[in-house]
This record gives sequence, C-alpha cells and structure tokens, in this order.
Amino acid sequence: MKNFISVDDVPGMDALVEKALLCKANPFANKSIGEHKRIGCIFLNPSMRTRLSTQIAAQNLGMEAIIFNVGQEGWALEFEDEAIMSGNTVEHVKDAAPILGKYFDILAIRTFPSLKNKEDDYSELYIHQFIKYAGVPVVSLESATLHPLQSLTDIITMTEEIRTWEGAKAKRRPKVVLTWAPHVKPLPQCVANSFAQWVNAWGKADFVITHPEDYELDPKFTKAATITHNQDEALKDADFVYVKNWSTYNDYGKIYCNDPDWMLTHEKLKDSNQAKVMHCLPVRRNVELSDEILDSPASLVTRQGANRVWAAQAVLSTILESKK
Ligand code: CP
Repeated sequence: MKNFISVDDVPGMDALVEKALLCKANPFANKSIGEHKRIGCIFLNPSMRTRLSTQIAAQNLGMEAIIFNVGQEGWALEFEDEAIMSGNTVEHVKDAAPILGKYFDILAIRTFPSLKNKEDDYSELYIHQFIKYAGVPVVSLESATLHPLQSLTDIITMTEEIRTWEGAKAKRRPKVVLTWAPHVKPLPQCVANSFAQWVNAWGKADFVITHPEDYELDPKFTKAATITHNQDEALKDADFVYVKNWSTYNDYGKIYCNDPDWMLTHEKLKDSNQAKVMHCLPVRRNVELSDEILDSPASLVTRQGANRVWAAQAVLSTILESKK
C-alpha cells in the first residue's frame, strides 16, 4: 500500500481488518518495524481521536510521530497551481511538501472541506497536492470528502461485534443502517461518504441509508445501498445503526432540515434487532443522539474510538512493509 486516502488504496480489506485485530491482541508484536522512521502528522483542522490514536499507533511500531498544527502554528498554505500569491497564503504546498517529504518517512494530513464549492472540495486538491509534491506515502487523517481511518475502524468494530453473535443471528447477513441526525451547523459529508464506501466494499451487510429529503449523498459512494426517507422503516430489524449528520450534497453545504425528530432514541430502536449504535465522535448529545443511548450497553462509541489505534497501526505497518 503506497498511500491511504480511500478504500481504493487497500489491496484486501479482510486482511487489513485481521491485521488490526492482531495489533489489538498484541500491540507491540511489530515494535521494531518503524525503528529510525518518522511520521509527520499535519493538521489543518482540529482533532482528538485521530491525532492521538495515530501517534500511539506509530509509537507501538517504534516510529517517532511529530504533530504539526499548520492551521494554528504554520504558514498559511496555498494549494492552487500557478496561484499569484498576493493574498493571505504565505507558502505554496509545492515548496512545503517536498521539505516535509525529506523530514518524514510517512506524511499524514487532515484537511476539511470549505463546504462552499462542491467541485473544489470533491477534487480533493489539498491531499492530492501533498501526494504530488511530498515524494513519500501520504495517509489521510480525514480529507474534504472521506475519513478512511474512521471507516476502517468502523468495519473492525462491526467485525468484532459480529464475532460475538451466536445461533441464528450469527448465520445471517447483518443489517447496517446509516441514519442522518440533526446538528446545529453544516458538517462535511466525509464520514457518511466514507462509511458508505467501506460498507459497500466490505460487501458483508445489507446496507440501508436513511435521511430527510434533499440530503442525498454522492451516488459514487452510496452505490447500491437502499435509500429511504422513512427512518422508522430503515431501523426495522437493524443490527447496527450508524448515526451521523451531514450537510446537503446537491445544493452544497446547506442545512435544509433540523428536525429534532431525526435524533436517535431508544424508542426508535424498539423494532430493531437489539441494534448496536455507532458514531465517530465528537457527538452533540441530545441533538444527534440521546443520552439514554450513548450511556447504554447499545452504544459502541467508546470501543469505536479505542479501535482507532488498531486501524492506524494496521495501515502504518502495511505502508512500512511495502516500503521495505
Ligand atoms: N472521529 C474523529 O475523527 O475524531 P477527531 O475529530 O477527534 O479526530
């Protein structure tokens, strides 16, 4: 694996999931693969889980991890080729990235979308410019449209849970539901796009997406998933319910609906198959998801957050192995 910016970079998802579970079982089994190697984690936006889990994963592999919050500490970067830099940007990525490529063996980048211009955001200019100019493998710590480390974690977490099932439940395909939730501000489509992309590629679940009208995601990611505006219908017989807000994709970056009725509650899960509830966090309690769910055994959110380490460790070790 050369870069990790989407599911398309993964040669075999099952093998990557197994590797992550092996890392979880024995975190230091591969502790010298990253010896004398350095990862630079470049943040253009805030993070808690992604930053700390990637740092811990690198350290478990014997790598040094250096964090650089470009947004707060660095020069404002320009990403457009041939830009006339007479505005606020101070340094072109074409100049900065090759130097970062000399400092680090792997570069990991977090960017966010502007949510103003769909074509710009969906071109993934920022991460592609780092890949073009850095000359070392690039890992997405969340980009304008995708969050692959989160989605790998989500597949790992569902795989772990499914392995605890017994009897008839263990024999049938799980039903996985991605449900839109209300939020106070427009959020990217990254987590929802990425979850859809990974669940489709995983191919081991009946996949349903439910959202209010006008919240359609990019069909490039949703593919053959069943899409319904009827949340109750979607939640019926669900085994996993992934809760996430996103802003509109077609009329880009807007909030059309903030209907509190879309918040997931215990009552809404009554016809589910004792569904486990997932969220990437951070979560707006009692806006997206009720306290009663988050604080109940139905919630997988802590396990999901903890599993971020093993997803990152599996990805970094795979990249280090292919660099050998
Ligand atoms: N889920 C997630 O990416 O969390 P952070 O924004 O805290 O990294």
